[in-house]
Amino acid sequence: MRDEQHQTPGLFITFEGGDGSGKTTQAKLAAQWLHDTYAHDVLLTREPGGTDLGRHIRELVLHGQDMGPRAEALLYAADRAHHVHSLVRPALEDGRTVVCDRYFDSSIAYQGGGRTLTPTAIRDLSLWAVDGLMPDLTILIDVTAHVGASRLVGAPDRLERAGAGFHDRTHATYRQLAEEEPHRWAVVDGDGTIEQVAQRVQLALSARLGERLGGRNDSGQPGGSA
Ligand code: TYD
Repeated sequence: MRDEQHQTPGLFITFEGGDGSGKTTQAKLAAQWLHDTYAHDVLLTREPGGTDLGRHIRELVLHGQDMGPRAEALLYAADRAHHVHSLVRPALEDGRTVVCDRYFDSSIAYQGGGRTLTPTAIRDLSLWAVDGLMPDLTILIDVTAHVGASRLVGAPDRLERAGAGFHDRTHATYRQLAEEEPHRWAVVDGDGTIEQVAQRVQLALSARLGERLGGRNDSGQPGGSA
């Protein structure tokens, strides 16, 4: 594997998981916790759709006409390229903490695993798109595809309609990615109440990032007790 690590002053934390895993809620809570406990200046953002251009791409890919898997992969990569170039990297260069709801591992899991494109090709495409920017930590909110599907409400988008086999393969690919790169991933059990999962996320952030979280809260005590 190539070493794509590109160090920036800020911390880059990504959240991953299948549809209905609760990762969007957990990314928000983690961003708030990092701000409140460690006084981090946090940018909370997401893919697809973290920029104006990205919101157009998001509409196309989730609610537009049907398309082949390669076009789908390229649209996600285009969203990501613009998002990182215009928002994420500048924030990291400024020393901000970026919490991103989905990043390139979503493409490896959904387009690589789910759509059965070649995962290494999808990884290379995404890393080219973002000029090698790697997260410091990736949190997988782990629930089975079946549990995720049971939590979804409203009309399903193109990806949510892709079928149980697709979502099982996506979940299996996430698990495999976390096993292959244990230093970058923290797997958090997504079963339980929002508060229970949030506490597990805080423990994982403290355990894995430790002193890199830095900062002290208003009482002068080191933050981090979950
Ligand atoms: P979204 O409504 O943001 O769902 P979620 O709350 O689950 O993140 O829709 C994003 C959808 O796009 C979701 O089904 C995952 C999919 N996706 C990919 O297939 N590839 C990608 O690279 C990304 C970022 C998302």
